[in-house]
Amino acid sequence: MIVVTGGSKGIGRAIVEKFSKDGFEVAVCGRNLESLKTLKEELKGAAEIHIFQADVSKKEDCTKFIEGVNALNKPIDILVNNAGVFVPGSIHDEEEGAFEMMMQTNMYSTYYITRGFINKMMAQKKGHVFNIASVASFMAYTNGGSYAISKHAMLGFSKCLREEMKPHQVKVTSVMPGATFTASWEGVDLPEDRFMKANDIAELVYSAYNLSHSACVEDIIVRPQLGDI
Ligand SMILES: NC(=O)c1ccc[n+]([C@@H]2O[C@H](COP(=O)([O-])OP(=O)(O)OC[C@H]3O[C@@H](n4cnc5c(N)ncnc54)[C@H](OP(=O)(O)O)[C@@H]3O)[C@@H](O)[C@H]2O)c1
Repeated sequence: MIVVTGGSKGIGRAIVEKFSKDGFEVAVCGRNLESLKTLKEELKGAAEIHIFQADVSKKEDCTKFIEGVNALNKPIDILVNNAGVFVPGSIHDEEEGAFEMMMQTNMYSTYYITRGFINKMMAQKKGHVFNIASVASFMAYTNGGSYAISKHAMLGFSKCLREEMKPHQVKVTSVMPGATFTASWEGVDLPEDRFMKANDIAELVYSAYNLSHSACVEDIIVRPQLGDI
């Protein structure tokens, strides 16, 4: 089974579609139940999709999601920590609470949810964790400081987890995309083909997962052909 946080739209949805069409049972969460139901309906006919309403910025929702998935009693082949939010702003003048909200959604959830499944993967001696970070994991953003901080933290988390998991046959990959055309970019006055497609990221995740058991793709950095926006 593949577990994807924030899988009803964008990059998460592209990953859900790719693996589900390949026969993987999917467990997916998001805040909006209607979007999850639509996803399930649209992918009818592919492998089974279990939907869970959860706001991963809340620890109690992360716990409920973990319990719900674990209750399915299925081996966890893949965990994709994807749910994330970008709010533009600068450290010196952004709204109070922006930093905490992005750290909770992007970073804390990744930590909590990974801890909810990693022991099972270690016991299985098999599994693959993908952390959907960003090029903001290693760049300075003047309009998106808190986002970049949260994504730097995600990369640090991912590197540490990779080291911890080496002896347990569990793979860890940090995925660092540049601008990808999803709802996050709504309203931006640029042609769609200036961006990567969510499917491009899903293809990379799928390829990294499908290498032999002796190879681990540690980092995926991918940008639009014309570079950052
Ligand atoms: N698009 C880019 O250019 C880009 C570039 C680099 C990295 N990334 C990263 O890629 C990931 C996905 O981004 P995206 O552009 O695909 O986003 P998106 O199109 O806005 O989709 C986000 C998905 O996550 C869910 N989500 C958002 N907040 C959530 C929360 N608090 N709890 C549970 N689910 C939540 C959304 O569903 P609900 O709204 O129903 O909750 C939706 O399914 C993020 O981590 C983002 O930082 C994106």
